[in-house]
Amino acid sequence: MSNYHIKHLEEYYQVYRKSIREPENFWEEIAEEHFMWRKKWDKVLSWDFSKPEVKWFEGAQLNITENCIDRHLATRGDKTAILFEPNNPDEEAEHITYSQLHQRVCKFANVLKSQGVKKGDRVCIYLPMIPELAISVLACARIGAIHSVVFAGFSSSALATRINDSDCKMVITSDGSYRGSKTIDLKGIVDDALEDCQGVNSVLVAKRIHSEIEMKAGRDHWLQPLLDDASDVCKAEIMNAEDPLFILYTSGSTGKPKGMVHTTAGYMVYTAYTFKNVFQYREKDVYWCTADIGWITGHSYIVYGPLCNGATSVMFEGVPSYPDFGRFWEIVEKHKVNQFYTAPTAIRALAKEGVDHLEKHDLTSLKVLGTVGEPINEEAWHWYDDNVGKKKSPIVDTWWQTETGGIMISPIPFVTPTKPTYATLPFIGIQPALMDENGQEIKGNQVDGRLCVKFPWPSMARTIWGNHQRYKDTYFSAFENKYFTGDGALRDEVGYYRITGRVDDVIIVSGHNLGTAPIEDAINEHPAVAESAIVGFPHDIKGNALYGYVTLKETGESRDQNNLRKEINQLITEQIGPIAKLDKIQFTAGLPKTRSGKIMRRILRKIACKDTSNLGDTSTLLNPEIVQGIMDEAL
Ligand code: WT7
Repeated sequence: MSNYHIKHLEEYYQVYRKSIREPENFWEEIAEEHFMWRKKWDKVLSWDFSKPEVKWFEGAQLNITENCIDRHLATRGDKTAILFEPNNPDEEAEHITYSQLHQRVCKFANVLKSQGVKKGDRVCIYLPMIPELAISVLACARIGAIHSVVFAGFSSSALATRINDSDCKMVITSDGSYRGSKTIDLKGIVDDALEDCQGVNSVLVAKRIHSEIEMKAGRDHWLQPLLDDASDVCKAEIMNAEDPLFILYTSGSTGKPKGMVHTTAGYMVYTAYTFKNVFQYREKDVYWCTADIGWITGHSYIVYGPLCNGATSVMFEGVPSYPDFGRFWEIVEKHKVNQFYTAPTAIRALAKEGVDHLEKHDLTSLKVLGTVGEPINEEAWHWYDDNVGKKKSPIVDTWWQTETGGIMISPIPFVTPTKPTYATLPFIGIQPALMDENGQEIKGNQVDGRLCVKFPWPSMARTIWGNHQRYKDTYFSAFENKYFTGDGALRDEVGYYRITGRVDDVIIVSGHNLGTAPIEDAINEHPAVAESAIVGFPHDIKGNALYGYVTLKETGESRDQNNLRKEINQLITEQIGPIAKLDKIQFTAGLPKTRSGKIMRRILRKIACKDTSNLGDTSTLLNPEIVQGIMDEAL
């Protein structure tokens, strides 16, 4: 029996039981046999959720890039590590072998050093999905710099907030990006952001769209000439197991985005192990995850997990709809993709276009289909299963979070029988718990509650950058001695989990995690706006869309409402990005509030969802009379 690669259900249960009964022995064995260490650990695990403090493989030394690249050179030097598929189908795909990746990462790492970047420094990466993105991530890891990738769809002000929060001294970007038929001026966005970022002293610029851009003397450098001059030898910095590997921002219900900190050894072991099993990756397979490396899915399952396993990982620059909705299937056929991992929102958008595009392409290479990011509805699940997988490729509905680093609940394909809309069983080593509102664990099956995790796993985030108290308050305070996920879930009669969605004020729109607070802050900046509240409501393709209730100041009441709507969405686009734009904006005379002044979103949510037959308890409202008016004027 190999604990590293699970092939039967019986084996899953055996390995699972072992991972729960003897977690330290279990993870020690996995770590020992499948990774390259400069020094082994003194202690596998120490933890205390009340602080909270979690350490895995303490005392060990390693560099994750030696695991992702160097150790494959002897056996897989000429194998494609990254297969880059450009936005434009007429441009040629690029196969970057493990040897070439090694050279390019080393060169890039030397450029970082020559610009004064040192171990522990933070580097912000704001790039489109081009090879330089994966390479710069690995180059940071090579020298022990902490990367903070910001999704290149965020606005300049969102970028500035993230750069400043973690004190980045460098930004890596490009002259621009291609997205379908559009080009985006990324460098211009960086320039705007940097007006508010005093700590950044160097900007590296990759050439992608060959546009005329301004380069600020002394600060901005074209990347290519620096790479040309750099040596391709760069010794890997030796890192401690618990040294931070990266920061990745995610939205919270309140306040500014949270910089989740992931550390080195545990993250590596868990992402590699989950990748191998959840996708049943075999040596000759071509694996494609359609996410952007700006999100955790891309970090763990385009870069680190696949490369640690010596896999071929496709990196796609474009969008599913360009030049038409057949693009994904064309890529599957062209590169003979074996594992395909995408989001429910993409599946719904593709399903809406019908099956004509699918029928034009040979999809017989596909073996495993994955989904992630939000609950997948039954219709989308069946469409995916019937038309993409032809009922032969199991669907792995993988539940996890930026904070968890790796996949937590998921079927193992060909091992776990799937069930539509169910993420099914906890992955090896994961101990979920469902909790009731009184803080008690709900045992048994056929129950639902708030989803927590009772025991540490190797890839959990260790803190929020610069704010450990917030880490504790957000994740370890709702339920004693447990990590609280913010999601609700139910457990069926055989112990399968179905994630029912967020139970807090985070709304998932097109698979993007959006906090209500930053959006409301953006709206409230409008001079005519007094107050606002955002809720989610169901949307065919996006899963959820945003509904904003806005009250105006007296000065705003005479304004044209359609213009106001446009201005509000413009503000949101500037402050956060177009992904956070509102689908509906209702102007109201007031917002329902509790006596303590808290907006009662529950009621607003029901109105937005047109579910007003029972509004629930409204007795604690300070201003119950306002509700009828909001209902009468609902959009
Ligand atoms: C939230 C985390 C993890 C990568 C992408 C999102 C929701 C994620 C599923 C799923 C139902 C899911 C949860 C979770 N979510 N995967 N398979 N089924 N819901 O990472 O941006 O940190 O969002 O996404 O609500 O808490 P993220």
